[in-house]
Amino acid sequence: MQAKREHWGGQLAFVLATAGSAVGLGNIWKFPYLAGQHGGSAFVLIYLLCVLVFGLPLMLCEFVIGRTAQKDAVGSFVVLAPNTRWWLVGVLGILTGLIILSYYSVVAGWSLHYIWETITWAYGRLDASAMGTHFGAFTADYRLTILWHAVFMGLCVAIVVGGVKEGIEFWSKILMPLLFAMLLFIVGWVFFLPGAWRGYEFLFALDLWKALKPDVVIAALGQAFFSLGVGMGCLITYGSYMKKEDNLFSSALWVMIADTGVALLAGLAIFPAVFSFGLKPASGPGLVFCTLPAIFKGMSGGRFIGLIFFVALAIAAVTSAISLVEVIVAYLIDEKGMERMKATILVGVAAFLLGVPTALSFAPSTPEHPFGLKDATIDLLGAKLTFFDVVEKFTSNICLPVGGALIVSFILFGWGLDQAVRNLEEGTSSGWRRFSWWWAFLLRIVVPVLLLLTMAYSFGLFGFDAHGGMVLLPVLGGGA
Ligand code: PHE
Repeated sequence: MQAKREHWGGQLAFVLATAGSAVGLGNIWKFPYLAGQHGGSAFVLIYLLCVLVFGLPLMLCEFVIGRTAQKDAVGSFVVLAPNTRWWLVGVLGILTGLIILSYYSVVAGWSLHYIWETITWAYGRLDASAMGTHFGAFTADYRLTILWHAVFMGLCVAIVVGGVKEGIEFWSKILMPLLFAMLLFIVGWVFFLPGAWRGYEFLFALDLWKALKPDVVIAALGQAFFSLGVGMGCLITYGSYMKKEDNLFSSALWVMIADTGVALLAGLAIFPAVFSFGLKPASGPGLVFCTLPAIFKGMSGGRFIGLIFFVALAIAAVTSAISLVEVIVAYLIDEKGMERMKATILVGVAAFLLGVPTALSFAPSTPEHPFGLKDATIDLLGAKLTFFDVVEKFTSNICLPVGGALIVSFILFGWGLDQAVRNLEEGTSSGWRRFSWWWAFLLRIVVPVLLLLTMAYSFGLFGFDAHGGMVLLPVLGGGA
């Protein structure tokens, strides 16, 4: 006989925990650098549209599956469609979750290291131009990065062992408001920097011509998936701890507002400072770890602001990573009858081991660091990819969109849209029900078209030339 299923303390707890899952490295690390690379305002606008027409409906799909079935990501499909193979969708989700968790923890470990470096002011003593080299030397030292990766994974395990209410809910209720407050504080601080307005202009002054480029659309679409955390059963799992009397529509709206809000706040914290210091917004993944330290070094109160920033980044990462751990832990508890403690430790160890090659991917092999894998790359469509590049791109660009497509197909063809709508409307007053019509419309038409587009791109069926113009790849008869 299994123990009674735990539930969230209420809708607020559910929203905070799910916002914690959604708000993560994707918002504070990835969103600003993608916006920086893709022309700022153009990317922001398209991203917002993608979240609305695409992320929100998918989020509701996962919530309703989980809440109705009251089971983990695999078991939910078994309950709702017995004697079919739909449960394989859940298995894909669990595997995707494990892979994301493994590399996520490595990058989150970097943020822990930068908290330490801000406290000891290690980068504050360097020349601003040396920040990139300094970051490179740190990531090349894999003993150190693996140590931080282990510390981060240990933190996640410690929280998830506590369970849904006393672990995940307890910490989300403390950490999420703290995260908002910290980011708001930085946004207020940088507002007074000279020339900050150019950062706002970069983020919000719309240049429609740039916005319409297809590569911007594809990047925004992929980011919407990753940032909301849809397509891998994470929200099925969190939804399964929800009670029937809670309103799924308003919960999803709040999670979306929190997720988008934090991404924008991160942009508002970073770009005014970047422009004020005359630095480049398009520096890519190094934006947070190379460009920002240079700013903190040069800014009055920079050590303090830097500390707040990296602590906020680590908080965002922890509340996301615990949701990835919980997806697999819930599966092991519900389907394999394992105890929570044992399941959590097992997941932590597995994700840690799987993350080791990612940590090695940033280190060139040298006599001092003989296991470095930076140069062990594979060629894919003309690009040289490290182990980290492969797992990161494979999960974000292929596994999540494929998972999302399968979840939508399950609602349409496996479970039935009518059933889904009936369950979605439970716990809502009639005023909310007109949204069901929109949800069904988006699911039947808009979402499938957008998903097919992303997948065709991810599988390399078409690409973009240097000016952002579309080209068909040779498989489809186009000249590359
Ligand atoms: N949404 C998280 C982020 O933006 C990452 C994540 C992906 C969490 C998938 C759960 C599931 O960082």
